[in-house]
Amino acid sequence: MSVRGDKTTHLIGLLLGTEDDWPRAFETLVQRVGAVPHEGRDHTLTTERITIEPFDLRDPVRHDVVIDRLAWWYYHPREWLKKAALVNDTYLINNPFTFQSMEKHSAYCAMIRLGFDIPDTVLVPYKNPIDHEKWAYTATTYNLPFDLDEVAGRIGYPMFMKPFDGGAWRGVSRIDDAEVLHRAYDESGQMLMHLQAAISPYDAFARSLTIGPDTMVMKFRPELPMHLRYEVSHDFLPAEAGDEILTLSKTINAFFRWEFNSCESLVTGSRVRPIDYANACPDIAITSLHYYFPWAISSLLRWSIFCAVTGRLPQVDTTTRDWYDVADDPDLDYPAKLERYLALSNAYFDTDRYREFCDTSLASLDEIVYEWISSQAFDDLLIETIKKTYPAHEQDWFAAHFRGLIGLWVKDNA
Ligand SMILES: Nc1ncnc2c1ncn2[C@@H]1O[C@H](COP(=O)(O)OP(=O)(O)OP(=O)(O)O)[C@@H](O)[C@H]1O
Ligand SMILES: [Mg+2]
Repeated sequence: MSVRGDKTTHLIGLLLGTEDDWPRAFETLVQRVGAVPHEGRDHTLTTERITIEPFDLRDPVRHDVVIDRLAWWYYHPREWLKKAALVNDTYLINNPFTFQSMEKHSAYCAMIRLGFDIPDTVLVPYKNPIDHEKWAYTATTYNLPFDLDEVAGRIGYPMFMKPFDGGAWRGVSRIDDAEVLHRAYDESGQMLMHLQAAISPYDAFARSLTIGPDTMVMKFRPELPMHLRYEVSHDFLPAEAGDEILTLSKTINAFFRWEFNSCESLVTGSRVRPIDYANACPDIAITSLHYYFPWAISSLLRWSIFCAVTGRLPQVDTTTRDWYDVADDPDLDYPAKLERYLALSNAYFDTDRYREFCDTSLASLDEIVYEWISSQAFDDLLIETIKKTYPAHEQDWFAAHFRGLIGLWVKDNA
């Protein structure tokens, strides 16, 4: 028995950054869901926005589940989450013990080991080693001069230079020749950089958002402004590539115990090249996801309610060897490995039990979400969000734009 005990009332904590749109949607929908029947008992759920306060490491934690959007940047709540997981069995979406591997670098390494088709990637030393007398000896003794052009020659142009830990396009540049390469490297300063072969051109950019065991693969247009990046497009990938992206999204999540993550793959024909597989705090703003927002909020509700009501326990340890046994098995070809990875992912996410829970305990959720998204209350939230996000002279245009996309979702899901 977990220290969380055998309760029928559950509190879901929201640890938030600046966002207010999806949290309000989430809070409203948890109220509308009401009692959740499970194994003969009715469970009730409430939500609470978590504040940052001094805490005793022995303090009890009232939350059964915490959805965290802050701790990647803010250390006090990060340490509170770790204590909550280790002392109180609080279920964390995401668990900060996975943060070290939220650096892109670790995800590339794991995916390479598992056999995914990662473009050639080289980590180069700091341009300017950390300027501190403590490290001066190390920098002069071990940070050896190297030939940047020789490294670039191995990768080939065009390539991308980007920080090993990544995030929000900070320090990302496309490099087409040696001159740009040297300039970008000089400017990288104290950022630690990858050089990665560019996939260029490609047929489709797929962004896959995963919440628990559910993944949505969406067509993404990185060259457009944020509100146009997710394009509403079904069947934009060959079936085989779509399946591979579903499997590799689930795989990387289950491998590192991430539960809320977005991934990026570039697809040419049916060849899938993953380029970014670790986002501790994926964007789910209404004004980014629009048509896909109802899916995202439903998935977040389903997974967090499942974790709260069934008493799912946090797991801070990983089982890398199980995955490597598949990766290293000479008798398995790539499709057979994908099948095994999918099975391991489903075991981690307890997918069968989760689906059954969704079909029984949360059978009315789709209807509740549909009714709310179609309601005046949702439109009010949308308009309020638009007013907070865009300048006054653009608000009418954005209102018409997003109402159109939400209207399309309502029509498609009637
Ligand atoms: N190897 C590559 N080939 C082609 N395009 C690339 C490659 N690497 C990065 N890009 C382009 O640069 C963008 C930013 O790179 P990346 O996703 O790795 O950085 P990021 O900082 O994680 O961005 P974000 O957090 O916003 O997703 C990608 O969305 C893609 O458009
Ligand atoms: Mg990215």
